[in-house]
Amino acid sequence: PLVHLNPVLPEVALVGRSNVGKSSLLNALVGQPGLARVSGTPGKTTLLNAYRLPGFYLIDLPGYGFARAGKSARASYRSLVTRCLGERPTLGGVVWLLDIRHDPSDDDLDMQQLLIRSGRPVLAALTKADKLGRTAVAARARQVADALGLPQDQVQVTSSRTGLGIGDLAASIVAAVEENR
Ligand code: GTP
Ligand code: MG
Repeated sequence: PLVHLNPVLPEVALVGRSNVGKSSLLNALVGQPGLARVSGTPGKTTLLNAYRLPGFYLIDLPGYGFARAGKSARASYRSLVTRCLGERPTLGGVVWLLDIRHDPSDDDLDMQQLLIRSGRPVLAALTKADKLGRTAVAARARQVADALGLPQDQVQVTSSRTGLGIGDLAASIVAAVEENR
C-alpha cells in the first residue's frame, strides 16, 4: 500500500512595514494572543515563521522600512521577501498590511512593485482602525485604496485590538486560497 502524504497546504504571507501590526493580526486571525511575538519596538520579527491554520499556513515575515536596520539587514530582508514572493511555489497569496492612519510610504510603494511583479493575489488589510473614529475610518479606507489604486473589495479595515474585520479578513483569505488552488 502507498503511504498517503498530506497534500501540500498553500501559504499566505503577511507583509508590511515594521510595527504595522503583522504579528498582532496573525494572533487575532488564529485567536491566540501570545502566539507570535508582538512588540512596541520595531524589528521584532526577524525570521520567516509559519503557523498552521485549518486549510493553509500563515507566514509572519519581518517588517520593512525599519529605520534603525543597517544596510546589510535591509539587503537580506529584501532578498528574503523577494524570494518568498517570487520563488515559493506553495505561496497562495499575500496579505499586505498598511496602517490606516498613514498614506503609503516610499517603502510601501516599493513593496507594491514587488507584489505586482510577483503576480500573487493580494488582499490589503488596513490596520489599527481602533485608533480612529468611525467616520475617519471610512474616509481613510477610501483614501488609502485610491492612493494604491486598489478596488474596495481588495481592502479590509481591521483592528487586532477590537477584532474589527478579522472574521471578514479570514473569510477573504480562505476564499482567495480556494480560488487559487
Ligand atoms: P515587526 O515584527 O517589528 O515587523 O512588527 P509587526 O508588524 O509584527 O507589529 P506588531 O504586531 O508587533 O505590533 C506593533 C505594535 O502595534 C504593538 O505595540 C502592538 O500592540 C500595536 N498594534 C498592533 N495591532 C494593533 C491594533 O489593531 N490596534 C492598536 N491600537 N495597536 C496595535
Ligand atoms: Mg512581527
